[in-house]
Amino acid sequence: MASVDVPVALLGYGTVGAAVHRLLEESADEIERATGHRLRVTHALVRDTAKERGFAPDASVVTDDLDGILRDDSIQVVAEVMGGVEPAGDYVLRLLRAGRPVVTANKQLVARHGAELFEAAAAGGVQLRFEASVCAAIPVIKVLRESLIVTNVHQVLGIVNGTTNFILSAMEKGRSYGDALAEAQRLGFAEADPTEDVAGLDAAAKTAILATVAFGSRVPIDWVGVEGIEHVTLDHVAAAHALGMHVKLIGRASLVGDRVDVRVGPAFVDGHHPLAAVEGAFNAVMLQGDAIREITLEGPGAGGIETASAVVADMVSIVGTTGTGFLQNDPVWRSLERLPPGDLASPFYLRLEVEDRAGVLARIAQELAAEEVSVAQLVQQPSDGHAVLHIVTHEASAGRVAGALQAIRALPEARGEASAMPVISGRGVAELGWA
Ligand SMILES: NC(=O)c1ccc[n+]([C@@H]2O[C@H](COP(=O)([O-])OP(=O)(O)OC[C@H]3O[C@@H](n4cnc5c(N)ncnc54)[C@H](OP(=O)(O)O)[C@@H]3O)[C@@H](O)[C@H]2O)c1
Repeated sequence: MASVDVPVALLGYGTVGAAVHRLLEESADEIERATGHRLRVTHALVRDTAKERGFAPDASVVTDDLDGILRDDSIQVVAEVMGGVEPAGDYVLRLLRAGRPVVTANKQLVARHGAELFEAAAAGGVQLRFEASVCAAIPVIKVLRESLIVTNVHQVLGIVNGTTNFILSAMEKGRSYGDALAEAQRLGFAEADPTEDVAGLDAAAKTAILATVAFGSRVPIDWVGVEGIEHVTLDHVAAAHALGMHVKLIGRASLVGDRVDVRVGPAFVDGHHPLAAVEGAFNAVMLQGDAIREITLEGPGAGGIETASAVVADMVSIVGTTGTGFLQNDPVWRSLERLPPGDLASPFYLRLEVEDRAGVLARIAQELAAEEVSVAQLVQQPSDGHAVLHIVTHEASAGRVAGALQAIRALPEARGEASAMPVISGRGVAELGWA
């Protein structure tokens, strides 16, 4: 088969951009053997053309002129690997409208401007692919869009942020939150300003994208209820351990009837659940659907070369499906409503500190009963003249649990901070031995 030369452009030549170029060069023969096409980087857009770069591109490739890329009709795919919402968003819109297919690794851009971007792709008659924007090397978007095309996926559960999973895994080994965060920063798993990761914002963007693709309905980023891991303590980790569980930051998208609930927050994950075994900086996504029951995909969720492998796969997919009539349209085909945030039901773990004296337990039970929250398991632990109560509830709505917690905090017998985390388990409370 004669080889087809495919000129491609990169927007950005940092960690991911350089790795995309490297993979395209080093795997050019494999790609050509599989597809008959040879992808060749002809332009790499950067801010500073004079900067020294790893896997240095030819000087003629490096440019700071987007218009040159827009004007060059020979370019068949553009990979946006520069990051940030602007000007990346404006550049991608202009390229799509000009009829250039685009691959992006930019979760904030896809989560915030997916509708506009897909509209521009449709106007330009080209594809927009975004595998690398969620969990880097894990091919979850492709699985949802292609492999599970006839499966009604009704829940997505994911560990979609490696930094927080690294920190929580280190806390399981006894490190404090501060120490674990410092170690993550030293090893390059966390940024100097870790807010985007530890506050759950990175996971929120990825979970919004997963929900949008899984349910075929746009999930705006502000629908995602977000709680980070800043308030997870070694006490929570120890309590989870005592229950045979692990504290994980979970992104969860649920289809309840014809309404959608999307949230990110720390949860107690049953030791038997596939997500419990995901350690360190790894990511994993569990897809639950009618025909498939459940599929879990696990792998590295960040890193230059890992992310680049997903970018290159999307570039090759575009080249392979252009002109065949198979176009990856906007994944959105319906408009579902948001489930009121308090309505999602789950078992919960509650940690309460109260005065250690007669009658207090009855008051707590009263407040829980007033919100129809029923207790599956209760362990009382004496601590410094007061008592710590570890409670696992039967399934209850998040709003009712929040209401009970508020009432309990207001009791004169309350001490310290009361907290609640959902419990994630494939097993019911009876199987867990708590009924
Ligand atoms: N790194 C990862 O592990 C990872 C994982 C998943 C997804 N991603 C996503 O991949 C994207 C790229 O990440 P990265 O780590 O490769 O970033 P990076 O190392 O900071 O590289 C960014 C590149 O974009 C260029 N750039 C930035 N703003 C520009 C502008 N206004 N005009 C022209 N060029 C501009 C920079 O040019 P200069 O070199 O001249 O500064 C640089 O080459 C982001 O969306 C990120 O979220 C990254």
